[in-house]
Amino acid sequence: MKNFFLNLGKQPLANKYLKTFKKNQIKYDLKLYFDTKSKLVSISKRIPSKIMFNNKYPYRSSMSLTMRKSFKKLSKEIKNKYKPKMLLEIGSNDGALICNFKKKNVLGIEPCKNLAEITKKKGFKTYNNYWDIRLSNKLKSIYGHIDLIYSSNTLTHISNLNNVFKSINNILSSKGILIIEDPSLLECIKKNSYDQFYNEHIYLFSAIAVKKLLEKFKLEIFDIKNLSTHGGSLRYYIKKKINKKLKITKNVKKQIDKEINYGLGKLNTYKKFSKNVKKSKIDLLRILHKIKLNKKKIIGYGATAKVVTVLNYCNINSELISNFTDTTPEKIHNFIPGKNIKILKYKKDILNKYDFAFLGAWNFKKEIFKKERSFLKNGGRFITHIPKPKII
Ligand code: TMP
Repeated sequence: MKNFFLNLGKQPLANKYLKTFKKNQIKYDLKLYFDTKSKLVSISKRIPSKIMFNNKYPYRSSMSLTMRKSFKKLSKEIKNKYKPKMLLEIGSNDGALICNFKKKNVLGIEPCKNLAEITKKKGFKTYNNYWDIRLSNKLKSIYGHIDLIYSSNTLTHISNLNNVFKSINNILSSKGILIIEDPSLLECIKKNSYDQFYNEHIYLFSAIAVKKLLEKFKLEIFDIKNLSTHGGSLRYYIKKKINKKLKITKNVKKQIDKEINYGLGKLNTYKKFSKNVKKSKIDLLRILHKIKLNKKKIIGYGATAKVVTVLNYCNINSELISNFTDTTPEKIHNFIPGKNIKILKYKKDILNKYDFAFLGAWNFKKEIFKKERSFLKNGGRFITHIPKPKII
């Protein structure tokens, strides 16, 4: 049974950047539910994929050094350990992972045309399609069974998980490996990072829920790694149950025990989380208002999809945060979805005109602090809301 636990208000599409601010930009309810049976945490309102993932999708995986490094490291591991004849990536974005492989050994699936074009132009075979059984059948008829399927930050964006795994199972060879990685529900609850929820993130996975889900498809997790990317993610290594050669590592039970002990299987944990989120909103607004009273200027750093949730939930406008800055060409000179805050092109000295920088991309804190040493040296300060609102 699905139980409601948090209302994050009306939210615009998190990646819908507008050239001019529109007060009446379409917004949708963002309410969170916990299913006591499947243990899945999900959002209520499902927006059709075609509206969210189109030919102008602004998120680019390779925009950050952290992500590029993470994909490079994983590619080495895959090549050394699993040596796949063919790797298929569901949601290949701008090719941050597949560019580490030989062109003849990878297939990209990317529904956003502007992103698929990037990898196609570089000569990587890319299917500009949504992942479904039709595509799975088509690829099977061309390439046969696939021995390694990878997907990061994509499967949680698809409403019908049964279709997703059915289509994967259909093309994965009997000894094949599926690697998926997505933000970790445990890390989200621990860090109070309610901004992991936006309309694209239909689910936030826990190992408990993934294990249950896979059982239906005779798939099982054989290893799990905790990653620092996207504010704390889990990488699940999955195999078919019939493949007895791969042993299940201790990491799987360790993660599941950790989640159970933290209470991820119980509704009460989510109710507590909800209280913490409401407090976080009050505390963040208090900090921002105090800074404004002192006539200091704040810029937002990193126009992430996550920050759209924060700004719209806390109702933060340009009176509090005058601008944002970001490196992504598709976001620059546009407005933060739902807000009258313009995104400025990142330049080396941009922060010098401000006293404070609100960390929209808090998940890249390390990378950003390193880059902005001179801002900090000159007395500039960062503001974060993770795990609790504070000035750093
Ligand atoms: P993400 O948290 O969804 O990966 O988005 C990160 C956003 O932050 C993306 O729009 C790029 C931006 N960004 C910067 O503008 N400067 C930086 O130094 C970093 C690391 C990210």
